[in-house]
Amino acid sequence: MAFDPREPFDDLPPIPPAADIETKAILRLAVSASRALAELKGLGGIVPDQAILIHSIPLQEAKASSEIENIVTTNDALYKAVDSASALTDPPTKEVLRYRSALWQGYERVKVAPLSLDLIRSLCSALRDTPVDFRAEGQNVRIGNRTTGRISYSPPRGGPTLLVKLENLLDYLNRDTGHDPLVRMAVGHYQFEAIHPFDDGNGRTGRMLNILYLVERGLLDIPVLYLSGFIMKDKAKYYGSLRAVTEAGEWEAWLEYMLEGVEQTALWTRGRIVTIKALLDSTIDRCRSDLPKVYSKELIELIFRKPYCRIADLVDAGIAKRQTASEYLQELERAGILAGEKAGREQVYRNVALLRALAE
Ligand SMILES: Nc1ncnc2c1ncn2[C@@H]1O[C@H](COP(=O)(O)OP(=O)(O)O)[C@@H](O)[C@H]1O
Ligand SMILES: [Mg+2]
Repeated sequence: MAFDPREPFDDLPPIPPAADIETKAILRLAVSASRALAELKGLGGIVPDQAILIHSIPLQEAKASSEIENIVTTNDALYKAVDSASALTDPPTKEVLRYRSALWQGYERVKVAPLSLDLIRSLCSALRDTPVDFRAEGQNVRIGNRTTGRISYSPPRGGPTLLVKLENLLDYLNRDTGHDPLVRMAVGHYQFEAIHPFDDGNGRTGRMLNILYLVERGLLDIPVLYLSGFIMKDKAKYYGSLRAVTEAGEWEAWLEYMLEGVEQTALWTRGRIVTIKALLDSTIDRCRSDLPKVYSKELIELIFRKPYCRIADLVDAGIAKRQTASEYLQELERAGILAGEKAGREQVYRNVALLRALAE
């Protein structure tokens, strides 16, 4: 029977795939991606305040993963909105911030329990800011090009057909199947997207699951892999490779693509952490020698945890009272470490070098 992209793909085969997917070439890629990931994991500890990494890198991941779905915002808007849930914040920015908090809630859960149907539902609900369930019987969706109207894929029908496939996916991920965990992550990501269990939010939920799975398997300590950045660089390749698995059983090309993505982003993220650590150290040194009255380790760590810093942040952290806090920030601005600007009625101070490093 020929595959018809307009008909629900109820025959989507269960995983693991019938073919032997762990070829020599794939295993070689898996080994080198695992090595890059292990180096990244080992590095987290060099930045003394883990919150610095935890605040910045997952936000970049959230931004890129949303951008894949055409939800576009800027770092500037994101950081300004992070601590002030203002009614003025634009919808895409709010959506990216929700993505980050969904990822965060998921992280808390996979530290203590494996992936589950309930976790998947919660991630998508947190992302969409409303309780959502898997597609029920009769709730069918199609994936297509919005401009041309061409349908490229129709996932399996909702209801029991879909649930059986999700159970199989979780079983494959959680049970020891003999496959390398990175291979399982990649196979699982294809399968999740092919099942497309929700009427919306599948792409982003699936990409969160990738990171969370690596944490759950102990390959990452904190959710700092920037895999969506890799996907975003060549979206057409991502879509094309997903389609080729369905239409031509091209598992090898899909696995190659994902494993290379893990390796490249592990190296990129590692580079970011090294840069952040170097910036933190040099800022501490400069401030200590040039602004000894202002300097405290807590203050410098704070401006790295909050790249858009407000007077209230210093007050809340117990670093200084309002007046002094304001003077500290102005001193740091005069020294060229921060750049002040108006945001609403408040003054915010940007950590210029850190923001530049994150945007690279
Ligand atoms: N041909 C395809 N086969 C399987 N999955 C696909 C295909 N094309 C796109 N996808 C997946 O569908 C996602 C988009 O689904 P959607 O539910 O709209 O997610 P979101 O709301 O996060 O945008 C893409 O990011 C991709 O992961
Ligand atoms: Mg969508």
